[in-house]
Amino acid sequence: MTLKQTYILGIESSCDDTAAAIINNGVILSNVVATQRIHEEYGGVVPELASRAHQQNIVPVVQLALQKANIDKNQLNAIAFTRGPGLMGSLLVGTSFSKSLAMGLGIPLIDVNHMQAHILAHFIKSEAHSTPNFPFLALTISGGHTQIVNVSSYFEMEIIGQTIDDAVGEAFDKSAKLMGLPYPGGPLIDKYAQLGNPKAFKFPKPKVSPLDFSFSGLKTAVLYFVQRNTKDNPDFVSENLNDICASLQFTIVDYLMDKLKNAVKQTGIKEVAIGGGVSANSGIRNALLAAEKNLGWKVHIPKFEYCTDNAAMIAIVGELKYKEQKFATNDVVAKARMKF
Ligand code: KG4
Ligand code: ZN
Repeated sequence: MTLKQTYILGIESSCDDTAAAIINNGVILSNVVATQRIHEEYGGVVPELASRAHQQNIVPVVQLALQKANIDKNQLNAIAFTRGPGLMGSLLVGTSFSKSLAMGLGIPLIDVNHMQAHILAHFIKSEAHSTPNFPFLALTISGGHTQIVNVSSYFEMEIIGQTIDDAVGEAFDKSAKLMGLPYPGGPLIDKYAQLGNPKAFKFPKPKVSPLDFSFSGLKTAVLYFVQRNTKDNPDFVSENLNDICASLQFTIVDYLMDKLKNAVKQTGIKEVAIGGGVSANSGIRNALLAAEKNLGWKVHIPKFEYCTDNAAMIAIVGELKYKEQKFATNDVVAKARMKF
């Protein structure tokens, strides 16, 4: 028996990436992302500029996704879009566009939770990564999120730990800014960290409940550290950049691993899947691979293009929901804050 072919368009516009992807029976046919460079000048995402850029990008990005997948829009079976959480002005662009296109084509509309999508990205069929077995723990780490989630099935997820202030990506980016590095500084800290001594300097690990995170204290500690040391030597940061980055990264990774170990202990679940832009970090990757070797964990790391904000993850959730006929109604609205 031949499998029925379904083509689902996924659209993501929750922050500063305008993205569209086409999925066909678990396989991604195209995955297009227009990253907005405009925010680099400001050292962070400017919501007003983000929504304008989404409006400019969304039609060309969707057209390119269809073209790369080599299908016509009339072949689409459904449209899945990010409903939230995210920046309201950004979400409104993707939501309104998706509603109109679904209505025009007369096909179902599927609303997707962005955080759930980061986790379900692991179920995209790819030779490059393994698929987790339920139940598993998901660690979602990015510029907007830091969460530990207990995942029982595709649509049963419970947040068991999260940040009480900044996200881990923000901790990387804000610390980098204090050291005079351009935005986003996370990848640069990672690059320099690999050349430095992780024990050269000591940074504090903020104390909160066992599964939760706090990063605002670390940012302040970096600020004082830079102020204190540049008083006598204005070149202190550039002279010690590799060691500062290595020490800071060591602290952050150790902190993430402490929390993950607590979660494994508390739940008894040793299967761990990571997602979000910070999962590109070499320190966290190495620490997880070491835990796989030494602690008997099973670790899943998706392809990087499915880790950062992307529409392939929206498309896979769209496909999973399509199979269960979980459709949105035409009066669905974007939501800036959203639980699972
Ligand atoms: O998932 P993402 O593309 O967007 C959201 O924030 O949702 O994640 C971007 C974040 C930024 O904070 C960036 O600095 C961080 O991921 N990041 C890294 C690395 N690559 C990206 N942080 C540390 N090390 C990296 N290699
Ligand atoms: Zn995200």
